[in-house]
Amino acid sequence: MAQAILGITEAFKADSFDKKINLGVGAYRDDKGKPYVLPSVRTAEDKVISSRMNKEYAGITGLPDFTKAAAVLAYGKNSSALDRLAITQSISGTGALRIGAAFLERFYPGAKKIYIPTPSWANHGAVFKDAGLEVEKYSYYDKKTIGLDFQGMIADIKAAPKGSIFLFHACAHNPTGVDPTPEQWKEISAVVKDAGHYAFFDMAYQGFASGDTDKDAFAVRHFVEQGHNICLAQSFAKNMGLYGERVGAFSIVAASAEEKKRIDSQIKILVRPLYSNPPIHGARIAAEILNDPALYNQWLAEVKEMADRIITMRALLKEKLEKLGSKHDWSHITNQIGMFAYTGLDAKQMDALAQEHSVYATKDGRISVAGITSDNVGRLAEAIYKVKG
Ligand SMILES: Cc1ncc(COP(=O)(O)O)c(C=O)c1O
Repeated sequence: MAQAILGITEAFKADSFDKKINLGVGAYRDDKGKPYVLPSVRTAEDKVISSRMNKEYAGITGLPDFTKAAAVLAYGKNSSALDRLAITQSISGTGALRIGAAFLERFYPGAKKIYIPTPSWANHGAVFKDAGLEVEKYSYYDKKTIGLDFQGMIADIKAAPKGSIFLFHACAHNPTGVDPTPEQWKEISAVVKDAGHYAFFDMAYQGFASGDTDKDAFAVRHFVEQGHNICLAQSFAKNMGLYGERVGAFSIVAASAEEKKRIDSQIKILVRPLYSNPPIHGARIAAEILNDPALYNQWLAEVKEMADRIITMRALLKEKLEKLGSKHDWSHITNQIGMFAYTGLDAKQMDALAQEHSVYATKDGRISVAGITSDNVGRLAEAIYKVKG
């Protein structure tokens, strides 16, 4: 049945073709197309369970062993931010964004408006609006090049009223897979600074983009080095595969240790009536991994393995399209990064993919590369070639 009538998941389920492909899922899949639990997560969970810990409440801001280690992972162990960082555990990345939005709505001294990229993760607008912020867009994706509209982005940052709030995807931009280069981030940082804007980073894919958690944190760390007192939403859904455990953190780099204390207490006042305190199980698993050197190194290797599988599937898809004789330039498939790829296919072509080839993904042309496997990449390339040429 047509995707217009049913959602992607329903349409995929309703399709009886045994070689159907679902590229609409927002979660990593292994090369057999199955959900993947990282071996480091299994080991950490076994340790958590066998230690027979009690089930008492965490504090309002969560487990300190988790938040301290999450801060080091994001900002780097020698970061000047660590001594003046107000951080709280959150209900994954979405919860972190929501706490950040509520904090800014209450305390940001300038306009209560946030600029998000065009396009952005579908939930960003809803999260910010729900917290009472106005949402405005800035240029980001260039349809013509299927790449970054860097000039447009810089122009929009410059044109916004001084002291505006800007949301940036730290790495692996969702949905486009298009990230600024380190050099471009440096320019963005300088322009944001000149305009006295405030940067809110959403880092939902640290390690998942390049396979290297330090590389993927470049933008966040560079902004801090340049004196931006940013705020940051972190998610462990993708890089630890802890999706349903809801593990995340929200942090604000304060100007001083004294300001950090004031922010800490305001965050507690915000969180208490929202959900009292966060869940403990997933945060215990993440803390176990982040604080045990052997498990940590194992996890880094597993993150790299996931990122590498995605990078390999991108390369294979491009190669197969070219081998089929496609005259289109598919280099954006391999230039883009992270779990999602913007194919450049339009809504009609996406409909044809679903109806004629049983390949399901969103109408904006975004495919989840995590849904591509060694088994289905050939058929996928053929389907795209038939639809797009
Ligand atoms: C850009 C971005 N931010 C935040 C999230 C939030 O995810 P979660 O709440 O599962 O951590 C996602 C999930 O897809 C995302 O893509």
